[in-house]
Amino acid sequence: MATNTTSSQTGTRSRSSAAGTTKAAGSAAGTAPATTRSATKEIEAHPNGLRLTGKVALITGGARGMGASFAKAMVDQGASVMITDVRDDAGNQLARSLGKNAAYRRLDVTNRDDWKAAVKETIHQFGKLNVLVNNAGIVNFAPIDENDPENWDHTIAVDLTGSYNGIKASVEALKRYAPSSIINISSTAGMRGYRSLTAYSAAKFGLRGLTKSVALDLAAMKIRCNSVHPGPTNTPMLAGHEDAKDQVAMKRVGQPYEIANLVVFLASDESSFSTGSEFVADGGELAGLAPSSPVEN
Ligand SMILES: NC(=O)c1ccc[n+]([C@@H]2O[C@H](COP(=O)([O-])OP(=O)(O)OC[C@H]3O[C@@H](n4cnc5c(N)ncnc54)[C@H](O)[C@@H]3O)[C@@H](O)[C@H]2O)c1
Repeated sequence: MATNTTSSQTGTRSRSSAAGTTKAAGSAAGTAPATTRSATKEIEAHPNGLRLTGKVALITGGARGMGASFAKAMVDQGASVMITDVRDDAGNQLARSLGKNAAYRRLDVTNRDDWKAAVKETIHQFGKLNVLVNNAGIVNFAPIDENDPENWDHTIAVDLTGSYNGIKASVEALKRYAPSSIINISSTAGMRGYRSLTAYSAAKFGLRGLTKSVALDLAAMKIRCNSVHPGPTNTPMLAGHEDAKDQVAMKRVGQPYEIANLVVFLASDESSFSTGSEFVADGGELAGLAPSSPVEN
């Protein structure tokens, strides 16, 4: 991530240079090694300064919570976004508030016919599809000896098979409009166990495996695939579980925009060498046992 910050700064210098106003110090002296020059070229920002110009994204579970934050951040950075969900009122309202570069359509991620139609409509409306954000998710809390098998089936269907369905339905479009990026929203529950979260944890670990396998299958087609692992984040899903902050080193929950920043990076060409990887934003939850005293943030 540090490289990313430096990169966009370098990109800005490079744009000035193209306009003939300034030259990067190394190039001016003619001493920069070839690798430095080529890295600078690769990370030039789009002339309009936005990081997702030319990207068309489909986001699942985008009507509220993190998905809504991803949609806003991506539109802000120049992408067109198809927001999908099963919450039609909230989804339509959000799309209207984001203007002409956003639209909403209903998509239940467990329904393969819905998927086909949503991909088709995205291409019809925005001309292409090159970013897929598999974000829709549900959570159910019950210890293994109390949870019922229907609950397991449904959670796996939404949280894991839903993403598989999305990748299957989108892959031909993602190839056609590459470079493309698939972003699977997992969780810290995809990295460690939690009490009473059997199906959720199994699905989120499964997403990591799916991510790596897909990354290997599709790298040659210029499609990257990564997983994102948020810690407890302030969305409707976390309601009633805010004390999860106690297990976080920073002693607070995350805000949706803090995850959206990571998603924008992965959707953009700034992350062009990242595939098959886990990207964590968890306030230090996975670093180890959190301090018991409060921390100033
Ligand atoms: N909030 C957290 O603390 C947290 C932490 C780690 C990971 N996550 C993950 O982040 C993602 C977003 O969660 P959130 O916190 O914004 O939750 P949320 O409940 O606010 O949003 C989830 C969205 O998914 C939609 N959805 C549910 N079932 C669906 C289906 N079958 N088809 C399509 N859409 C469906 C819901 O309608 C909702 O709009 C989820 O995958 C979740 O597991 C959340």
